[in-house]
Amino acid sequence: MRKTLRTSLALGAVAAMMLAGCSTSERGDGETPTDTGTGTAGSEAPAGFDAGAKIGVSLPQQTSENWVLAEDLFNQGLKDAGFEPMVQFANNGASEQQQIGAMITSGVKVLIIGAVDGGQLGAQAEEAKKEGITVIAYDRLLTNTKDVDMYIAFDPFRVGELQGDSLLQGLAALKGSGPYNIELLAGSPDDANSAKFFDGAMSKLQPKIDDGTLKILSGQTKFDQVATQGWKAENAQSRFSTIMTANYEKEELHGILSPNDTLARAALTAVDQAGKDYIPVATGQDSEVESVKWVLDGRQYSTIYKDTRELVKESINAVIALQKGEQPQINDTESYDNGVKVVPSFLLEPVVVTKENAKEVYAGDPFVGELVK
Ligand code: BGC
Repeated sequence: MRKTLRTSLALGAVAAMMLAGCSTSERGDGETPTDTGTGTAGSEAPAGFDAGAKIGVSLPQQTSENWVLAEDLFNQGLKDAGFEPMVQFANNGASEQQQIGAMITSGVKVLIIGAVDGGQLGAQAEEAKKEGITVIAYDRLLTNTKDVDMYIAFDPFRVGELQGDSLLQGLAALKGSGPYNIELLAGSPDDANSAKFFDGAMSKLQPKIDDGTLKILSGQTKFDQVATQGWKAENAQSRFSTIMTANYEKEELHGILSPNDTLARAALTAVDQAGKDYIPVATGQDSEVESVKWVLDGRQYSTIYKDTRELVKESINAVIALQKGEQPQINDTESYDNGVKVVPSFLLEPVVVTKENAKEVYAGDPFVGELVK
């Protein structure tokens, strides 16, 4: 089990640990990382800035409800903390996210970025750093740039592990003793999260593929074969329609690894439209309203809860620390290597939700809480 430490270590201790290259665990060893270092995001105290400063938040397309929620939460939360929010979506994709340039020009002090394409924002991040702006990767990592100061997210590798475990549990609970036929779905290849979700899930599923418990009749097992461009439901649905016709005329499809709720519903719809009278065990993510309803009535086996209020709150806490000239809190210094550096991270723990624990998990949630009353 990953241990996300919340206690704060003295900055010196973290710096010493990083200098000594003293990591306590590494990904890929089958177990999730353990003590990953807790402390603050850098070695020098930041300069601080005016209490009423402008803060830029650049969000990707509204490909799932979490992004829509984040917009309101950032606007409200930043205002409540005394800042001037500048929150924009890049609904037309990566090119529109060049909007970050205008945020820099307008004098923002911190940039919080949920990237469309995490590998395409190096120039903007570099420009921001030249202006003394702190760059925070929000939910999705910025890759191949040294100019990202910090990453705040519900640990995406852990999300994948929970999805893999949940698929195996669902199959055992609902589809007899196996072997099981499953098909895989992954998110958009330009989103750095997609490979993490997939790798986390495959760390649980691959051993069961290897020992013959899981079979993938389409033969599509590689990330590139199962990725879904743009996180678009129609892409997943048409791929699954083709798979159903080609591979499941006679065989039953028992399970679907889906990286999020939108794609889970798309794949399940394709199965339904193929005229099947069974429902595969499907995973998801985001606790979208429609999928929570499906989980409750048995159409989708599980989802993941990543409380957007928490993610936004931690991001605003980082802004507040920076404004005061303090380093934001981090709790991981080794898990997220962006190709150029290991990005100091504040990782939150995602929660898997099935019909069994939905009531407990969603109690008190302003968006889906009503559904479990
Ligand atoms: C987020 C997921 C979301 C997906 C599509 C990912 O980067 O982490 O929560 O489902 O993007 O919007």
